[in-house]
Amino acid sequence: TEELQTLVLTTLDAKGSIGNTKEIKDSDDKEVDQLALLGALKSLSLDKEMVRYETIEDEIWVLTDEGNEIANKGSHEAKVFEAIPAGEEGIVISELQKLLGDTTKIGQGQAFKNKWITKNGNNLIRAVDSIVDQTRIDLETIRSTGKHLNPKVLAELKKRKLCDKHKIISYSVTKGPQFSLTIEKQARDITAEMLQSGEWKQANFKKYNFDALGIPPTGGHLHPLMKVREELRQIFFEMGFEEMPTNKYVESSFWNFDALFQPQQHPARDAHDTFFLKDPAISTQFPTEYLERVKEVHTNGGYGSIGYGYNWKIEEAQKLLLRTHTTAVSSFMLYNLARKKEFKPAKYFSIDRVFRNETVDATHLAEFNQVEGVIADKGLTLGDLIGFMETFFGKMVKNLRFKPAYNPYTEPSMEIFSYHQGLGKWVEIGNSGMFRPEMLEPMGLDPEIRVIAWGLSLERPTMIKYGIDNIRELLGHKVNLSMIESNPICAFDLI
Ligand code: PHE
Repeated sequence: TEELQTLVLTTLDAKGSIGNTKEIKDSDDKEVDQLALLGALKSLSLDKEMVRYETIEDEIWVLTDEGNEIANKGSHEAKVFEAIPAGEEGIVISELQKLLGDTTKIGQGQAFKNKWITKNGNNLIRAVDSIVDQTRIDLETIRSTGKHLNPKVLAELKKRKLCDKHKIISYSVTKGPQFSLTIEKQARDITAEMLQSGEWKQANFKKYNFDALGIPPTGGHLHPLMKVREELRQIFFEMGFEEMPTNKYVESSFWNFDALFQPQQHPARDAHDTFFLKDPAISTQFPTEYLERVKEVHTNGGYGSIGYGYNWKIEEAQKLLLRTHTTAVSSFMLYNLARKKEFKPAKYFSIDRVFRNETVDATHLAEFNQVEGVIADKGLTLGDLIGFMETFFGKMVKNLRFKPAYNPYTEPSMEIFSYHQGLGKWVEIGNSGMFRPEMLEPMGLDPEIRVIAWGLSLERPTMIKYGIDNIRELLGHKVNLSMIESNPICAFDLI
């Protein structure tokens, strides 16, 4: 295209303007390819403004193979006429067929129509002394000029499939305000060298083309985390769960902590563990009656609880944060469930990202994914929770153990452990419990409704499954792309 650009510029310099780029010839005196030329015109005009151009649309008639054959050797009807000897005798059709083959059939009809031939008994004889093969003449004209003055002729020949219309595009070109014979090199990227030498100050940068489409990827591979997420989603769907909307990373402290009966001076709320937002820093949109009930249960208790007995402040609840767990979404979902006219048992799940202000090391990142499940129904017991854990985790791991634990929002609470063959020890794979009445009853849920819930990190089973022992090999800039490409699909039988 560099060559074409120069060709356009020198032609413009010599002629002042180019009426139609079809006239430009390259160094071999051949017509230039108009599509390649368009590339050259675009780059000379777009941000350089060296030339201006307009599109010329033209139509040209081109002969088909059969049309060319006729232009070379004459029409079928002319061939028929020529094959018939002059005189009263003429020729029998079978003879003619031997001479001309298929041409006889096609040419005969047209020759009769033209009144060039007639019949004498069984013989075909000439009806005129000489003929003008107009079809051939028309086709020759079209072949040499691409046009014909009589549109009826064109229509007729097109119908006979002897020629066809083609659209051709060419351009008219004039000098632009920045016209010059030399194409200044435009810099695409700023380089370290340019920065060091100071060259970037004078450099002529190519403008960004924000309309350009990216190079379409030829293929892709799911990240191991996404493979495991897909497998877990299928397990949840199979078990009749509904996916919770977790598409908001920012939550208020209210839904993330207060609604979960987590006291405001709880260490996890400390800025060391939680990322708080600066701008905007607070939310003021809360269901007021529910908020009052949450305040009351924290301060004075109720529903059989004595509460925490501290001075609950709305300012703390208003603080916006990056959610520290997806249980923030569960609390919002349960609040909505409580507001439904009629209670229906519910099974919810989500798998999405959460954020914690932790020191990053081989097993911790400041963000990770949580798998969360919630079941609400009348009369659920701890036995149901254990039974359910056996079923759910049993799809991934064998050998489960439960250990009593503490969460501000569940009682009882259990950590779930699995025996890891490789490590030769019990490792924690999840946390679970039954949501407390102090959390559920202020929402308006009937005291008979019990909610069992559990959570686990998506990273833990993924790392075990794919034999990755450093989280930085799974996420972030050190990830080896071929690892993502080559690892197998996730089917939970191998952990
Ligand atoms: N939210 C808990 C966590 O972040 C997990 C959990 C969910 C525990 C539901 C009990 C019930 O670890």
